[in-house]
Amino acid sequence: MKHLTNTRDLSTEEIHAILARARELKSTHHDNTLSNKLIITIFFENSTRTRSSFEVAAKRLGASVVSLDVSKSSTSKGETLFDTAANLDAMEPDAIIVRHKDSGVPKILSNYVNCPILNAGDGAHAHPSQALLDLFTIWEHFQFDSLHGKKIAIVGDIKNSRVANSNIELLTRFGLEVILVSPPHFMPQSSGLRKTHDLDSVINEVDIIMSLRTQTERHTNQSYASLKDYAHDYCITDKRMGDRDILLLHPGPVNRNIDIDDAMLEDPRCKVLKQVKNGVYIRMSILEKLILQA
Ligand code: NCD
Repeated sequence: MKHLTNTRDLSTEEIHAILARARELKSTHHDNTLSNKLIITIFFENSTRTRSSFEVAAKRLGASVVSLDVSKSSTSKGETLFDTAANLDAMEPDAIIVRHKDSGVPKILSNYVNCPILNAGDGAHAHPSQALLDLFTIWEHFQFDSLHGKKIAIVGDIKNSRVANSNIELLTRFGLEVILVSPPHFMPQSSGLRKTHDLDSVINEVDIIMSLRTQTERHTNQSYASLKDYAHDYCITDKRMGDRDILLLHPGPVNRNIDIDDAMLEDPRCKVLKQVKNGVYIRMSILEKLILQA
């Protein structure tokens, strides 16, 4: 049985197949391939779009979805995570989708259940379905051509970002050159990648910018003078972008005028909503793969 706890759980061949299937699902009518399947979602941490994206994806393929309301579940009454998982497993779901503030929880849970576990984001560790939808959006933008040699700047709070972690692994595997752009306190210690604190010094050479949200909830102490100062150096503004032909991505939720300014959010180069749309097709493709090939 296969789980998706991070992008490394999938071979490059499997990822090619997931992308190709997502492309097919996006362009053709699809059948209810998961019509007799039951999917449980448990989100121990807030989610604006990942949870609804997974649920829409499951329902589009005809699956039934049960969402555990964690605030009302027995976990908040002292039941351990593993007892909760064992109880859910006893209901014989075909997949469990989990988000948790602590890194590693989906991986540990995968040892206790008899169905695929899909990680919908764990701490600062990984967010594999987000990285796959980002890769898909980039691939679609470049007309489904090879991405070898394309350059992407990942900008912002990289150290605390599970989205950055998963994208770095996945995008480098697909031949993209990743440049990390952040203030010193948001820069990961090691990575072997090119790093800079100066966004304007690399903007002329990149094909793609991925802006990230400042993960204030993961900061133990305030590590920059003010968000305004941060925005001055790292906000993707129309002035900074000029007329450069750069694809602009952001996983959401966007801090307006801190990560990306109002003008760029309206700009056709910004594909935030396309990412949301593609997210459903990628998750349909992931669910099919993990459930039907379990
Ligand atoms: C991200 C997350 O929760 O990891 N959002 C998302 O899933 N689309 C990024 C974030 O919260 O900044």
